[in-house]
Amino acid sequence: MKKDEVFTTSDGRKIPLNYDFYDYAKDVIGLPKGVSQDFELAASNTTGGADAMDYEKAKVLGSSKARLSNAAYAARWSPTYLFKTLLEGAGIHQSFKTMLDIGCGYALQPRMIKALGITEHCTAIDLYDRASMIDEDYLRRQHGRMRWYGLIDKLQERIIRKPFEKMSNLERAILYKINTPRRSMRTPRGYLSSREIFRTPLKQKAHLDELIIGNVYDVDRRFELITAFSSAEWFKMDELFAKVSDMLEDGGVFYLFVANYWHAGTAGRIFGHFPFLTQRLSKEDFKRYLEQYFPDQTEAWEKAYEFFDPTHPTLHDYVDCATKHGMYPISQFSPVAGSGFSHKYAVTTRGWLEMEPHAVESALADIRKTRPDIRYSDLLPLTHHVLFRKVSPDRKATKADFAKLKGPFHDFHYRPTNPVMKKLRSLAIKLNSGK
Ligand SMILES: C[S@@+](CC[C@H](N)C(=O)[O-])C[C@H]1O[C@@H](n2cnc3c(N)ncnc32)[C@H](O)[C@@H]1O
Repeated sequence: MKKDEVFTTSDGRKIPLNYDFYDYAKDVIGLPKGVSQDFELAASNTTGGADAMDYEKAKVLGSSKARLSNAAYAARWSPTYLFKTLLEGAGIHQSFKTMLDIGCGYALQPRMIKALGITEHCTAIDLYDRASMIDEDYLRRQHGRMRWYGLIDKLQERIIRKPFEKMSNLERAILYKINTPRRSMRTPRGYLSSREIFRTPLKQKAHLDELIIGNVYDVDRRFELITAFSSAEWFKMDELFAKVSDMLEDGGVFYLFVANYWHAGTAGRIFGHFPFLTQRLSKEDFKRYLEQYFPDQTEAWEKAYEFFDPTHPTLHDYVDCATKHGMYPISQFSPVAGSGFSHKYAVTTRGWLEMEPHAVESALADIRKTRPDIRYSDLLPLTHHVLFRKVSPDRKATKADFAKLKGPFHDFHYRPTNPVMKKLRSLAIKLNSGK
């Protein structure tokens, strides 16, 4: 039977079908076997709101696992380390008194944040319990193993400089089969952290002080730090940000780590015969496309499509929405894939730009028919990482604010009388001036 060459949208656009891409993506990602229970039971955008969720049914998603694999630990350590560097880069070194992690899953990140001394008290919330059985003593041992990854990282850095043909099979295995916390951020996110990621110690036990099993909209308390690691996708941005702002103390910090809906492949691992599949088709056309080409996957992929915030925010939308709720960005990072390949999405936007820029250009033209605000820069990042500070919109800067901003060091002069210190001072001046 002759294969279709194009998919025709209801407004008459003809999108070419790329079977080479389809075969490749199917091989890399694989077709879903059924509807993921997470999307079906615990995603409020799929169930029609957090109140419409069946909490009894959602209990099946709970877990009594005490120990996760080292790879699973490393996969949570790398975003926590990134969060730590963003905080420090933003000049935030003091520890918070209270924190809440929204949609915590196994609650490893909040435990790590506590163990790093970033917060004194740590609360986490999820609709179902995957977190309470985690063996916290084991986490410390597991953290120690990050050092082993550091040794492997050094080997990987040497091997990667060789052409593939010159590598031994052992070298290939070391390079491609071991996902250290540093590599797991570099390849998909193009972010190469410092090697400190392997050596950063935990200052105390990775202990979760409080786990709330329930709906975040029912929480009626305030926190100094609120984090959402890969969970904002599961909410409606405006509702979530309004709630976060309500729960945040004045001057408090909200950390948003969210997948970029507009990247060539979407969270939910949906793929088809062309890039930007979900982004460039209306919901009706997407359904028709699935029924035509993926009758066995239609139900699963419709749910995966729906779990994401239906307003499909860009970074600008997240920032605008947060400011509407009195939370202002103080640090942001939207990394672009470190390669054209992705295990999750098969081909990244960067990959398409390097292999076939026209595929991105025509997708963008399609997208702009319903979302004229979208630009190339919106399509590139895989994730967004933003720190927001809550400030009352009516606040006026005072004289004391400016003095605090300048800090005491501007008016501070070091004039030692001790001869040794005098010598050290002049050496330091020489070092600084280079003379
Ligand atoms: C992708 S998981 C994030 C897992 C975790 N943060 C991690 O990085 O391993 C998103 C989580 O958000 C939770 N969630 C969704 N709606 C929620 C709500 N209204 N209140 C609390 N948690 C919610 C889901 O149950 C799910 O576990």
